[in-house]
Amino acid sequence: MSKFVTEREMEFQRECMKRVAARNNGQTAFVDTYGCQQNEADSERMSGMLTEMGYVLCNSDDADVVIINTCAVRENAENRVFGVIGRLVHAKRRNPSQIIILAGCMGGEASVREKIKKSYRHVDAVLDTTSFWRLPELILGLLEGDERAAEINTVGGVVEPDSRIAEGMPVSRLYPHKAWVSIMYGCNNFCSYCIVPYLRGRERSRNSEDILKEIREVVADGCKDITLLGQNVNSYGEMTGEGLDFADLLAKVAEVDGDFLIRFMTSHPKDTSKKLLDTMASNPKIARHLHLPVQSGSDRILKIMNRRYNAESYMELINYAKKVMPDIVLTSDIIVGFPGETEQDFEQTLKLVSEVEYDSLFTFIYSKREGTPAAEMEDPTTPEEKSDRFNRLIELQNAISLKKHKEYVGKTLRALVDGEGRQGDHNLSARTNGGRLIHLSGDKSLIGEFVPVHITQATTWSLVGEIDKGLMNGVRK
Ligand code: 5AD
Ligand code: SF4
Repeated sequence: MSKFVTEREMEFQRECMKRVAARNNGQTAFVDTYGCQQNEADSERMSGMLTEMGYVLCNSDDADVVIINTCAVRENAENRVFGVIGRLVHAKRRNPSQIIILAGCMGGEASVREKIKKSYRHVDAVLDTTSFWRLPELILGLLEGDERAAEINTVGGVVEPDSRIAEGMPVSRLYPHKAWVSIMYGCNNFCSYCIVPYLRGRERSRNSEDILKEIREVVADGCKDITLLGQNVNSYGEMTGEGLDFADLLAKVAEVDGDFLIRFMTSHPKDTSKKLLDTMASNPKIARHLHLPVQSGSDRILKIMNRRYNAESYMELINYAKKVMPDIVLTSDIIVGFPGETEQDFEQTLKLVSEVEYDSLFTFIYSKREGTPAAEMEDPTTPEEKSDRFNRLIELQNAISLKKHKEYVGKTLRALVDGEGRQGDHNLSARTNGGRLIHLSGDKSLIGEFVPVHITQATTWSLVGEIDKGLMNGVRK
């Protein structure tokens, strides 16, 4: 079967959008998003389709259509979503014609589908990440109860997974100056703790021309900060037949005319090449930020995690990145308390974190996901020991983050003002090239502009700065 949804099928979705729009008179829709950037990107597509269908987007549980776009990576995220869905029963009572759809990663879990069918009967449909391009057909079916849609849209029904790539979906971007661009979908890595490959399907890459077309469009719309998304961006292109790897794609994106920065996530260390780091180093449009999840510093644990690299090869990449880009910002994900992790294993993680000196870390306590190999493993470590390790890791990282942030004080950097701030007297927030958060004051009209910022203070989590008005027109581009 083709890798792509056919033009005919997309035409059918467009037809469904038109038919919904024809009967819509100012109905509202709310897309409530949980989880990672990929989910945010998916939500922007669903919002785009809802807008085409005539819905006015809002932020209320009382909307006529409510879509909960969910995350399944950890159990507590799932429990939170069940709480949210449970509470929606009141909104549905107030408005019985309301449409409630559970979408996203949880929508791909058989156990969740069963639970929704049995215990959450006010949910009208379940849509997984691979088939959300069929949202128009689903909504039309729920509104009209037509026969074709009825197959998939019975109360508590599900849309079957379909992991082909759908091009040409409308999009309603949340920010004018910031865009997510998915370059690939799914994951083939099967890290032993992770449920994502079971929910987002096998890895598949978009064609480079489709990606470049989207980039040209967002740049023409004034976008300044573009993040290329994929579960494992470094294996981009393995199956496109174009002979273009991720580093080649990045270089091509950087050739697009305009003043913008390119970011990307997530990179898998086993597939991160020196060629990629060289491409970053030689290209000022590529942000000096590498998010390279290490997960653990212990070779023994990395092996049972099925990560396929070791601490030494990881450090080699980090050291090379630092050599070719001395100003690189490094971030990572770490799981504490993986089944069987000993105190010695954990100390290896602390050692690696001290050596790398990350700018910041995303730290997680291991969460058991049914259906993954790690869920079958012995896990004798107590929750107390795990949370003690977790706290020790955070304490170490906080000290490193503060030290690294202090190095910015006194410097003037180019930063993108990205929104209104919520920090004390500072009314704006900005991001450095490497993605560090700056609080600053200035006119709101600067949102979406690059400005020179003189850094005056640093904390563990952010920087404080002042716009350097003298440099405003002459700053390094
Ligand atoms: N438990 C805890 N953290 C997990 N992650 C993925 N699966 C799990 C799990 N079962 C973390 C990894 C990954 C990040 C997105 O979420 O660190 O890089
Ligand atoms: Fe999960 Fe590993 Fe794939 Fe990331 S690379 S999505 S952690 S299986």
